[in-house]
Amino acid sequence: MKTRILSILRNTDGHISGEKLSDELGITRSAVWKHINSLKEDGYEIDSVRNKGYRLIKSPDIPDSSIIKAGLETELIGSTVIAMKTVDSTNEEVKRLAAEGAREGLTVVSAEQTAGKGRFSRSWSSGNDGGIYFSFLLRPELPPADIASITLAAGYAVCLAIREFTGLDARIKWPNDIIIGRRKLCGILTEMTAQSDRIDHVIVGIGINVNNHSFPEEISGKATSLYLEAGKEFDRNALLSCVLNMLDKVITRFLISLSIDDIEHFKSLCVTMGKTVKISRAGKEISGEACSITAAGELIIRTEDNTELVINSGEVTVQGIY
Ligand code: BTN
Repeated sequence: MKTRILSILRNTDGHISGEKLSDELGITRSAVWKHINSLKEDGYEIDSVRNKGYRLIKSPDIPDSSIIKAGLETELIGSTVIAMKTVDSTNEEVKRLAAEGAREGLTVVSAEQTAGKGRFSRSWSSGNDGGIYFSFLLRPELPPADIASITLAAGYAVCLAIREFTGLDARIKWPNDIIIGRRKLCGILTEMTAQSDRIDHVIVGIGINVNNHSFPEEISGKATSLYLEAGKEFDRNALLSCVLNMLDKVITRFLISLSIDDIEHFKSLCVTMGKTVKISRAGKEISGEACSITAAGELIIRTEDNTELVINSGEVTVQGIY
């Protein structure tokens, strides 16, 4: 009911009377008043004037599915948007809904995660501290090996959207960390359920540090946020719509085939290119120069003895970057 009231308030110029709201919603005027008070408690600034009614002045900076949806121009991603105050992990929530048959494109966003997950079984700091935590569901008709290109496409899209929305010089650390300077701004965790020959579903989970003013001590030297880089806060709902629009454009394109232009543009934004990187393989540390990216999103490194190795996953350390 609160979502319906909000949507009416957003689509009304000026005030709307309690009587009109109660007629449109089929509830009593006192129920309208209770919902309005509850919205005020949630942080919505609503002007209430005797004989005139209610007018929405300002929405709080919390994930709001109707605001996010209003900013979408997508074919696939965001087919349904669920905004939550808190959840264990948005990846887990999408996984549960996928098991119940959720439609492709379902997107879950939360202001906070109590058990945010990172890559390599690490945790992902996800307090109610200004970050955006969201995951979406894909059901691509692709062989499992193609997951690398989806992951690559997701990082590329988020990087492009952040550059467009903020004007900041966001870059990619292969395969899909987004960094500014030498610090991490965004991480992506892609999880897949597959048969031997085809993907059943893919969950792409993305955490972006947006309005975080500081970080826990253990990551403060490695992490940054849009606020810390730009010196101002950003509207998280508008940013998320922009990121989902770009993800939709890039991923639907990548699901058909990787374009050479995209790969070249990806490479130009990827700080890993041309750098000495270290990877761990079969318990051994190998170092080499990152020299290219394949159409499938793999990293090619040239070792000291001039051998070219194709890396498709795993942790890559780039000299000088966290
Ligand atoms: C990384 O280690 O870099 C990946 C971090 C991914 C974090 C996001 S936040 C939203 C989604 N839900 C999770 O539990 N993890 C991902």
